Amino acid sequence: MRRLNSKSLQNRPPKGPQKGAKRHKKCYVPFVLLCGLAICFPVVAQQRVLKDVFKNDFMIGAALNRRQIFEEDTRGAAIVRTHFNSITPENILKWALVHPDPNRYDFAAPDRFVEFGEKHGMFIVGHTLVWHNQTPRWVFQDEKGNPVDRETLLNRMREHILKVVGRYKGRIKGWDVVNEALNQDGTMRQSPWFKIIGEDYLVKAFQFAHEADPSAQLYYNDYDLELPAKRAGGVELIKKLKAAGVPISGVGLQNHNQMDWPSIADEDATITAFENLGVKIHITELDVDVLPRTTKPGADYAVDVEVTPQLNPYVDRLPDAQQLALAKRYAELFQVYLKHRDAIDRVTFWGVGDGDSWLNNWPMKGRTNYPLLFDRLGRPKPALRAVIMLKSGGLFSAEEPPEFLFEPFVPYCG
Ligand code: GLA
Repeated sequence: MRRLNSKSLQNRPPKGPQKGAKRHKKCYVPFVLLCGLAICFPVVAQQRVLKDVFKNDFMIGAALNRRQIFEEDTRGAAIVRTHFNSITPENILKWALVHPDPNRYDFAAPDRFVEFGEKHGMFIVGHTLVWHNQTPRWVFQDEKGNPVDRETLLNRMREHILKVVGRYKGRIKGWDVVNEALNQDGTMRQSPWFKIIGEDYLVKAFQFAHEADPSAQLYYNDYDLELPAKRAGGVELIKKLKAAGVPISGVGLQNHNQMDWPSIADEDATITAFENLGVKIHITELDVDVLPRTTKPGADYAVDVEVTPQLNPYVDRLPDAQQLALAKRYAELFQVYLKHRDAIDRVTFWGVGDGDSWLNNWPMKGRTNYPLLFDRLGRPKPALRAVIMLKSGGLFSAEEPPEFLFEPFVPYCG
């Protein structure tokens, strides 16, 4: 049985000549150059590039932060150019950032984001138009701080959507129109949108988005739809929207996952439930939290738990056993996505490298998390190998993991 090398994967010394290094130096340099060329040669690269490996299945997306959008994070931007064919902005199109004051929009970052996506031929997603978080208070209040009436809020919603969606008409191809309208038990969240406008705020939001760009795909996006009660509420909601003639093209399953939640069976059942409604599925915010939680599934509780060493166990590196477990978790998730490849249009990761992830600061601040396929230095993790390998070799055996999962990987050629 092959055994995992127990040495640190991340601190392993680079392979290369040691004894007799001088004798081989002359041919070593051209050899390295040749390897570099071979690596960047498209045919070789295709087998190792996420978007190419899954090109006949679904798009592969990433959520970009501001430093990646402005290409200040050159390493992150290079990974995005190489491995992803769809992009979503992590924050810069949320109401509080793009429309912070009643008469002020800030389109500097969104303009750069859209230019970046167009330059690299990517499917550009807008996130998000109507949400209860990261929306300024003034949206729901009059000058005296009292709640506005239904008409006023509908007018504000329409004005915002026409301005933002209209600016990128024909360029941003899909919009998360309404984000997180449901409670965990599947009932409607009592957000200011719901309380002031009523349940038809969703219908109106989709209608305004369609009015602004009739060619854009429009999505409802939420987390934890794998919980049976929330899934049932989601299915009812989509049915109602369709019955009202709302132009909804897809459902976004956020997929902020943990190592043991949701089960693969629940993920499968959730995709099937929405697939059966005739809408497309988008996996919109994929990550896997590898750290212990003291709380239930969800993305909606306050960051008020004190960080103890038990809650932050992998400060220096993720041990091999956990790397392997993460690789297996990702491979199993992708196996379900592949099973539903006809219904799934896109699988988007919420971040590029581990250091970018919101999960370093949620559900408690200041932990070291490892939720993505690239590490803090932009190096591919065994999980990336495992996902890519699915298409050629299937699911790897956890008892006898192939050694190449842990070998140094070809660099990206951004
Ligand atoms: C939600 C939102 C995202 C983001 C993530 C966490 O799922 O839809 O915009 O805020 O939480 O970062």
